Amino acid sequence: MTQSAPQASSRFVRACLRQPVDRTPVWFLRQAGRYMPEYMAVRKHHSLLEICRTPEIAAEVTITAAERLGVDAAIIFADLLLPFTPMGLDFEFLAGEGPVIHSPIRSLQQVQALQTDRAGELGYVANAIERVAAHFRSRPRTEALHPAADQLGIIGFCGAPFTLASYMIEGGSSRNYVETKRLMYNSSLPQAPDSAAWPLLMEKLVAVLTAFAAQQVQAGADVIQVFDSWAGALSIPDYRAYCLEPTKQLIRNIQAMGVPVIYFGVDTASLLPTMRQTGADVLGLDWRTPLDRAWRELEYSCAVQGNLDPITLFAPQPVLQDRVQQVLQAAAGRPGHIFNLGHGIVPGTPVENVLHVVELLKSQPPLRS
Ligand code: CP3
Repeated sequence: MTQSAPQASSRFVRACLRQPVDRTPVWFLRQAGRYMPEYMAVRKHHSLLEICRTPEIAAEVTITAAERLGVDAAIIFADLLLPFTPMGLDFEFLAGEGPVIHSPIRSLQQVQALQTDRAGELGYVANAIERVAAHFRSRPRTEALHPAADQLGIIGFCGAPFTLASYMIEGGSSRNYVETKRLMYNSSLPQAPDSAAWPLLMEKLVAVLTAFAAQQVQAGADVIQVFDSWAGALSIPDYRAYCLEPTKQLIRNIQAMGVPVIYFGVDTASLLPTMRQTGADVLGLDWRTPLDRAWRELEYSCAVQGNLDPITLFAPQPVLQDRVQQVLQAAAGRPGHIFNLGHGIVPGTPVENVLHVVELLKSQPPLRS
């Protein structure tokens, strides 16, 4: 019997690489979150950042969600903003407000002050991944017919340069990204104030995120997902002028570590072909473009992940079933489809409907006979 590398032995990783799989793998964005009573029970005793920074708890939350749902991949419980701390930028999560960065970046001087040599302080995320890997890789095989296919994929993640910069510059979530785009546009005019700020910020983010991803891969992450959640706020020319190169660099750096990269954004229908130029192995699709159309426009040149509207999980089950089938029909059994939502599960989502989707995926006829 040939012994394949552990990462290639998971159904999820095989799909990322567009290799044939017995059935479509499934996992959910924000699968460990406030909709889940098990998560809320932990959250009652710990803040979000405490959970992220305590490897035992982060690993437990990650494992509980993946096992409760029976999905094909576990995404490490962490947050996009964690790298801000070792860069010297303080932030907190305020109830009902989301993240708040106390001294948002607005000048070249502030960008120059950001540190790039302390990524080692994020080692708690790698430590949590090691625990998750140890748990799943010592698990008894459950699907005897597919001994190599049932291993859970372990997903590490980080933000993309644009999306992280937007939090740093706006000081939190934003509607119009005015300050972010102001800094971005200023970089096109050498005489503009702080014109060197944007490229330097991109460079520093790529350095820190590369180091952070490397720790996660070394700890056992099979795949890294790069979240560019707010890239959809950019026009194609602006994405190309200010974000494509640093994102491509980050993705290349991660691929050089030997793992596939999933690149995810929201409201990205018209940006997808340009996002594809980053060289990502998998593109995450939101629900606004039908999956078949998006994949065709990408000329089937990469794998795709998505794209059920997360609010469909509130629909009566026959409607939910129909929408799941529509996504599967759009994928048409091509190698390289990972079933997921178009964005994260929202609080209040009925857990039984999430479980129902997993069951539907598992009861589909085999993709290869
Ligand atoms: O199960 C998983 O998906 C892993 C956990 C995870 C969290 N954050 C934990 C979390 C992941 C993958 C993230 C990524 C993240 N963080 C993103 C990109 C994902 C996306 O949706 O596109 C973003 C934009 C952030 C920054 C962030 N974290 C915001 C804007 C918020 C507040 C939003 C809200 O719903 O209140 C968070 C908080 C957060 N991170 C929660 C969780 C489970 C919910 C709050 C909590 O438990 O207190």
